Amino acid sequence: MTHPELTSRFLRACRRLPVDTTPIWLMRQAGRYMPEYRALREKHSMLEMIQNAELAAEVTLQPIRAFDLDAAIIFADILPPLIGMGLQLEFVHGEGPVIHNPLSSTYAIDMLATPPAEAHLAPTLEAIRLAVAELAPRGIPLIGFAGAPFTLASYAIEGGGSKDYAKTKALMYAEPAAWKRLMDKLVTVQADYLLKQVEAGAAALQVFDSWAGLAVGKEDYLQYVAPFNTRLFDMLNRRVPVINFSTSTFPYLEDVAACGGEVIGVDFRMPLGAAWEKIGLGRAIQGNLDPMTLLAPWRETRYHVDRVLDEACNCPGHIFNLGHGLHRTTPVENVRRLVDYVHERGRQGKQGK
Ligand code: CP3
Repeated sequence: MTHPELTSRFLRACRRLPVDTTPIWLMRQAGRYMPEYRALREKHSMLEMIQNAELAAEVTLQPIRAFDLDAAIIFADILPPLIGMGLQLEFVHGEGPVIHNPLSSTYAIDMLATPPAEAHLAPTLEAIRLAVAELAPRGIPLIGFAGAPFTLASYAIEGGGSKDYAKTKALMYAEPAAWKRLMDKLVTVQADYLLKQVEAGAAALQVFDSWAGLAVGKEDYLQYVAPFNTRLFDMLNRRVPVINFSTSTFPYLEDVAACGGEVIGVDFRMPLGAAWEKIGLGRAIQGNLDPMTLLAPWRETRYHVDRVLDEACNCPGHIFNLGHGLHRTTPVENVRRLVDYVHERGRQGKQGK
């Protein structure tokens, strides 16, 4: 069998090798906008679906069956690793994730466990094996993922989502030694989890630092966030490409990129070309259509898709994606049109070169 690294246009683009057309996958491609997902979700809670390997593999494959996507992403979430560390996580309907015993003291930080992934995350590792068995014959790679330490710390300290990250930053500034111990523990757990996902068959990894850019400016990023991200990326071996995704980090995107990752995932707040200049054309880039443009009539969506593709100028190393996850009200038909249009336009562009 030919090695997928050589044949998958997604994996080739990660390494900035020539491709026949622009590869595309979508953050949150498995989710509530799909009727097949909602049908399963009526019968099972979010955590039940993640913790059942067969169900998680099935949900991973749903968008692959429906659309001509170039990669699958394992159906899971960034937060379940916190359960093994000792936090009580629940996905509350209409509210999002809630942690019932958030970290409120340095003692609580020191009590956090750092178990290996197979102790609590075995169903996700098994789901990867099951999904890869289906995907490999079709030549479609599977992306594994985990949250970056800051984003996970913010949930662990705030007890859920936050608008101002007040408790997280209070701890970060007031107790820098405890902050470091917390971030060190998160790096240990996430690095192990990511490496085990590769062992289970993931052909690429994405690290989500969704909230650091909203919470801190450049100086604090360099002091309180970057050293831990850098160590996390350093601990991953070079066997598979790693995507370093963040949002709202444009003012210091070069510092984000310096932490690591073969591919830099960018949000929709900046033109892709400007972002690529900041990180250097020697690095692959992933992004960055505003997911909400998929809620508009096609001619409007297409205008925005064209802008992203023009910004990418058919340079090697562009992976088309959204600037954040698909919204749950996205019409399925718009996703199909998007995927087919990106392939079609990419093919024309590559031929024209
Ligand atoms: O991308 C994929 O299709 C893979 C699966 C995936 C999910 N969450 C499934 C999910 C991935 C990669 C994530 C990552 C994730 N989870 C992030 C980082 C990406 C980002 O969006 O910035 C974050 C911050 C979380 C935490 C989280 N999980 C929140 C804030 C929420 C609630 C908000 C929401 O959209 O409901 C979740 C729940 C969640 N994770 C759902 C899905 C499909 C919806 C659950 C449902 O069916 O009710």
